Amino acid sequence: MFFIGKGAKKKDIAPEHLPGHIAFIMDGNGRWAKKRGLSRNIGHAEGSRMLKEVVKACFSLHIRYVSVYAFSTENWARPKEEVDQLMKLLLEYLKNAEADLEGRAVRIRIIGSRKGLPEDILREIDRVESNTAGNGEMDFIIAINYGGRQEILEAARTLAGEVAAGTLRAEDIDEACFEGHLHTKGIPFPDLLIRTSGEQRLSNFLLYQCAYTEFHFPDVLWPDFKERHLHEALYSYAGRKRRFGGL
Ligand code: IPE
Ligand code: IPE
Ligand code: MG
Repeated sequence: MFFIGKGAKKKDIAPEHLPGHIAFIMDGNGRWAKKRGLSRNIGHAEGSRMLKEVVKACFSLHIRYVSVYAFSTENWARPKEEVDQLMKLLLEYLKNAEADLEGRAVRIRIIGSRKGLPEDILREIDRVESNTAGNGEMDFIIAINYGGRQEILEAARTLAGEVAAGTLRAEDIDEACFEGHLHTKGIPFPDLLIRTSGEQRLSNFLLYQCAYTEFHFPDVLWPDFKERHLHEALYSYAGRKRRFGGL
């Protein structure tokens, strides 16, 4: 177990040992609520509140890219009432996004499929993306209706279409070309992935992008994830040796 003192700020870790991109799988809202005899929806509302805090904490540490898994392509399988509630919370989140950032220069980008998302959410996505497009201190990527397999398939389909149309040669499909067809085009791969709740799996999040990502699985439910847990993750990350297949 890692204990972080009060002074656990950026100055305690050399900037080059901080991740440039942190990805979060915010898991455990339902269990958090159940433990308290509350409805799952309250767990999601608490989770959404916690997300705002975590984004601010990352910003103050100068983390350049933060991505979060808000709704997976598989989450449609949940009861309609819960899906509706999650959509409502997402809508609220997007509507208040700029106000909640209190002037921080954060660019908000949404990844995932637009297909199947309600009209009002699509409108808010367009609004918040264009409104924050000029912000350059941090990119905050929210995955909504996102699935890594679907993203890879979509890229393959597009590339196959380009080859069939004669605008691309199959032998020119290299990593850079393929990555340019992913939703995360232009965004560096996550250096650190944090999944709360004790589950140790990707659940279809950033499959291609996480090939060399460092994983951290704190035993805490997402609504309980505090700045202290973020610092613990950063200390763990700072002590790792990434080899990328080399020595
Ligand atoms: C994560 O919390 C939020 C979403 C998947 C949208 P869960 O709802 O998965 O919470 P648990 O895993 O049931 O506790
Ligand atoms: C992953 O969590 C999706 C999000 C956090 C949005 P889930 O709770 O849906 O994942 P599984 O079903 O436990 O793998
Ligand atoms: Mg879950």
